[in-house]
Amino acid sequence: MNKTISVNDILQDLESHIENLNYGESPKELYEPISYIMSLGGKRIRPLLTLLSYSLFKNDYRQALSPAAAVEVFHNFTLMHDDIMDDAPLRRGKATVHEKWNPNTAILSGDVMLVRAYDLLVDIDPVLLPKCIRLFNRTAAEVCEGQQHDMNFESMDEVEEDTYINMIRLKTAVLLGFALELGAILAGRDEKEAKLLYDFGVNIGIGFQLKDDLLDVYADKAKFGKQVGGDIIANKKTFLLIKAKELASGAIKEDLERWIASKDFDKEEKVKAVTAIYDKLHIKTLTEKKMQEYFDLGFSQFEKLEVSNQDTLEVLRQLTKDLINREK
Ligand code: IPE
Ligand code: IPE
Ligand code: MG
Ligand code: MG
Ligand code: MG
Repeated sequence: MNKTISVNDILQDLESHIENLNYGESPKELYEPISYIMSLGGKRIRPLLTLLSYSLFKNDYRQALSPAAAVEVFHNFTLMHDDIMDDAPLRRGKATVHEKWNPNTAILSGDVMLVRAYDLLVDIDPVLLPKCIRLFNRTAAEVCEGQQHDMNFESMDEVEEDTYINMIRLKTAVLLGFALELGAILAGRDEKEAKLLYDFGVNIGIGFQLKDDLLDVYADKAKFGKQVGGDIIANKKTFLLIKAKELASGAIKEDLERWIASKDFDKEEKVKAVTAIYDKLHIKTLTEKKMQEYFDLGFSQFEKLEVSNQDTLEVLRQLTKDLINREK
């Protein structure tokens, strides 16, 4: 009989594992920002996916805590650099590392976080290690590719919906896919199951980033923990902006184009004005629809999984479903 697993139990074990990680001591300017960002919490969705995916097949998920933590350390490294790139003041309700310290510190602490992520992966069974490293490396390079597209698009006029979806697949979704795939591989499962979980992860990952883009405009500031409107300020080619550009006409179109072209503006005023344009064009509903499409696609793949542990499957389904209505 399989014991029913709970997200809270896993999360507790994961948090204490993360809390006990040792990144290094000296110089403290290098290591303190790592403990800082890692202790700010966050949803821990990626390592949870790894541990639940592992638990679909095996009972001893504690065996997978180090590689799961590696995925979280890697994710936090990308956030530390992303916040420099996006000129973001807030992360998880606190000052970003480049604001609290400085950009050079955030660059270097981020670099050593990537190294520490590898340290944690090295604990993997030597038989599985090369495969895991290859998949991790592919994913990590794709995240960088997605991040570069994201920056390139800021100064581009026309970005098609497909091009945007591919960008978010790379910068965000493949890591959720990898997190799930990793769990299956660590549990010794075959290609077919790992691939199904990967595809499921990529589709919900696309939905996850669509929701992130939505929250960037429509989140409750008190709950979000990030600056509301950051994407609008930076002319990020989010699904919301792409759709608005597509649908706007007449005076609304002129207004939108003026805000996008404007170099010297009051940030708050721009966020307010562009949000009002989104409202007029019902962009929120359109984005929610697109997000739901990708979650549905993911869940249709999820149904194809042949797993005897139905309880854990249900826990995984619920955890990923909850991402749709999240507030941060
Ligand atoms: C933020 O990721 C960056 C994206 C890829 C959208 P999360 O929304 O998972 O952030 P935390 O880790 O929970 O703070
Ligand atoms: C970031 O996308 C994706 C990665 C960190 C790779 P965003 O720039 O939208 O993430 P947030 O909103 O800052 O968390
Ligand atoms: Mg970004
Ligand atoms: Mg960002
Ligand atoms: Mg965002």
